[in-house]
Amino acid sequence: MSQLRAAITAVNGFVPEDVVTNFDLEKMVDTSDEWIRTRTGIIERRRLKGEGKGSSQMAIPAVQGLLEKRGISPEEIDLLICATVTPDHVFPATSNIICDKIGAKNAWGYDLSAACSGFIYGVETGRRFVESGQYKKVVVVGVDKMSAILDYQDRNTCIIFGDGAGAILLEPTEEEFGIMDSILHADGSGIDYLHQKAGGSAYPPTEETVANRQHFVYQEGKTVFKFAVTNMADVSYNIMERNNLSSDDVNWLVPHQANKRIIDATANRMGLPSERVMLNIQRYGNTTAGTIPLCLWDYEKQLKKGDNLVLAAFGGGFTWGAIYVKWAYDPS
Ligand code: UT7
Repeated sequence: MSQLRAAITAVNGFVPEDVVTNFDLEKMVDTSDEWIRTRTGIIERRRLKGEGKGSSQMAIPAVQGLLEKRGISPEEIDLLICATVTPDHVFPATSNIICDKIGAKNAWGYDLSAACSGFIYGVETGRRFVESGQYKKVVVVGVDKMSAILDYQDRNTCIIFGDGAGAILLEPTEEEFGIMDSILHADGSGIDYLHQKAGGSAYPPTEETVANRQHFVYQEGKTVFKFAVTNMADVSYNIMERNNLSSDDVNWLVPHQANKRIIDATANRMGLPSERVMLNIQRYGNTTAGTIPLCLWDYEKQLKKGDNLVLAAFGGGFTWGAIYVKWAYDPS
């Protein structure tokens, strides 16, 4: 029997309506549209507004649309993995909430925390369930409501991030398509440079943690930038090398959208021209676990069966990695 692979058979995304432009941010912090555009590539990002609305509010429509596109019912989902660092609650898992709201009565699931690498960690995990032969329909949704943990007084962080969700369906195939290879890494010493200090069990919420603004994202941008440029480029190059892929063989780089300069450096290392690099940072900013599936959603119509994709990310943890995907379907 030939090897069972996990193929991506559908993709969908969701971003909230509310747009926050660089000019809007100029009114909140000491920054400028010009600085943000040239240093990051971002022009605008989305923000989920409304009391009591968490990440699930974006993941639910993303997954519902995914099922509609594939023409399957929620009861057919076996497993739903939700990659997020902004879960609706500390517990229960946002995955459980999504499954309940969409009627995925036969699914089990869990949340996966790997920050900006959350989606690729989720794909690697989901793929293994499919390859085991026991699971036929696995949903991986990457979602973050970064606006919930952003300090709109901190120009180092509030200009970068946005809210959004993207989802894929993984199904088994015996053909030579799907998730072909992956290289993933983690280095927990990165905590010093990128974290949300309070709200977990180490520093539970107190009046002091709130007053000290410790429930917001802290990032030492320059340091993270250096790690990101080197590691995302290296791992993307390494996965090409391991799979004997030349620059001409790679149809698309699907990079995490943290900073256009990091994306350009990665593409350069891989020898790819910008026409083969997915980019939507200008519209959505950095949606953390949402960036890669949102790119796939935006570019889906340009993807052809057999295309070679390299998904690559770097983020909090530190976590980073790359996944080689052979696209499994033509545009409908
Ligand atoms: O997705 C998860 C992983 N995260 C990342 O990959 C993000 C990695 N880091 C970055 O993308 C970049 O480091 C940032 C976009 C966060 C910052 O860009 P940078 O080019 O590294 O800027 P910097 O922090 O070195 O600051 C350069 C200057 C400083 O002024 P001086 O000291 O040169 O006078 C900052 O104070 O720019 C200033 N600055 C700003 N100016 C206007 C910093 N933030 C801003 C701002 N608006 N928002």
